[in-house]
Amino acid sequence: MLSFALGIGTQNTQGDWLEIYYPAPLFQPDDALIDAVKRVLDVPEGNAAVSFLPEHCAELAGALKAAGHAGQAELAETLATSQRPLVAMLLAEDLPPQSAPEVYLKLHLLSHRLVKPHELDLTGMFGLLRNIAWTNEGPIDIEELPARRLKARLAGRTLSVDCVDKFPKMTDYVVPGGVRIGDTARVRLGAYLGEGTTVMHEGFVNFNAGAEGPGMIEGRISAGVVVGKGSDLGGGCSTMGTLSGGGNIVIKVGEGCLIGANAGIGIPLGDRCTVEAGLYITAGAKVTLLDDQGQEVDTVAARELANQSDLLLRRNSQNGRIECLTNKSAVALNEALHAHN
Ligand SMILES: CC(C)(COP(=O)(O)OP(=O)(O)OC[C@H]1O[C@@H](n2cnc3c(N)ncnc32)[C@H](O)[C@@H]1OP(=O)(O)O)[C@@H](O)C(=O)NCCC(=O)NCCS
Repeated sequence: MLSFALGIGTQNTQGDWLEIYYPAPLFQPDDALIDAVKRVLDVPEGNAAVSFLPEHCAELAGALKAAGHAGQAELAETLATSQRPLVAMLLAEDLPPQSAPEVYLKLHLLSHRLVKPHELDLTGMFGLLRNIAWTNEGPIDIEELPARRLKARLAGRTLSVDCVDKFPKMTDYVVPGGVRIGDTARVRLGAYLGEGTTVMHEGFVNFNAGAEGPGMIEGRISAGVVVGKGSDLGGGCSTMGTLSGGGNIVIKVGEGCLIGANAGIGIPLGDRCTVEAGLYITAGAKVTLLDDQGQEVDTVAARELANQSDLLLRRNSQNGRIECLTNKSAVALNEALHAHN
């Protein structure tokens, strides 16, 4: 079994799942736990989202406790008071997800740091998630929003919509230890933030993407992009995603890199690379290679520099060409800035 989690969620008026909160998902749970769950709930083979009722919780808690899982037993006991739909998600295999509860479990596993970006199959996930108004009264199916808004007004309340999206913000589900996030709306559930990661207000982290930490993220980490240990993304910088625009190279940033303010990368970087502020390195851009004396050695497309370490990329301010030098002063993280945990 790959993963197991007890969750509490929201459904629309048709009974479709909108979202699920799994307080304590498990990665690779032992057989005793799964056997205990199967004794109480009617669990089919394979990957299964099994709905259950609060009245099942006491029996489930007893079985989990007997199987040696006191934490999960306690959670099951707590869920007995739920007024919202409950689900047990059993993930036997890592296949393209088939349901919203399955997608949500995978997103939780990422944000809980139980798996890293790219380690789980998320193929087709968009089609399984509904567009949701995330409001001060919880998630609401976008099609049901007008009715709910009116109902709230009639009762003297104002329904406030924070965002309209398929994904919620990560921090409403999990706040991993040792991170700072300036604006929580800019980190989606499914982001992976390693210990010591700071995401400033201008930073953004998509799902199935993230930073190993420690690191300072003031730019955008697109879906699928992973930033290595000790790397900084400068204010407003961009890492190219692969979801649209024909980009098919998976972008990553190695360890100890600095992407300057308003810069961008369309190629994966190795370790200790620096990209000058304001320079966008697209894969096809021609780059002039310079030796230690500043003499021109060769000209290559940037994609040929993919994954190489110790590069300093800059746009020559006099002739406009993009140049690549050896990076002699790899970024030293600002110790004071990072000494927060
Ligand atoms: C590219 C960068 C790293 C170069 O910084 P550096 O290595 O400290 O280089 P210096 O500014 O000391 O310049 C070294 C030499 O290279 C030259 N040089 C620097 N950038 C150049 C450019 N774009 N074109 C031509 N020459 C350049 C300098 O004029 C200097 O020449 P000299 O030795 O003849 O005096 C820096 O300009 C940069 O963009 N840093 C990013 C900072 C950032 O955005 N942080 C995130 C904040 S949110």
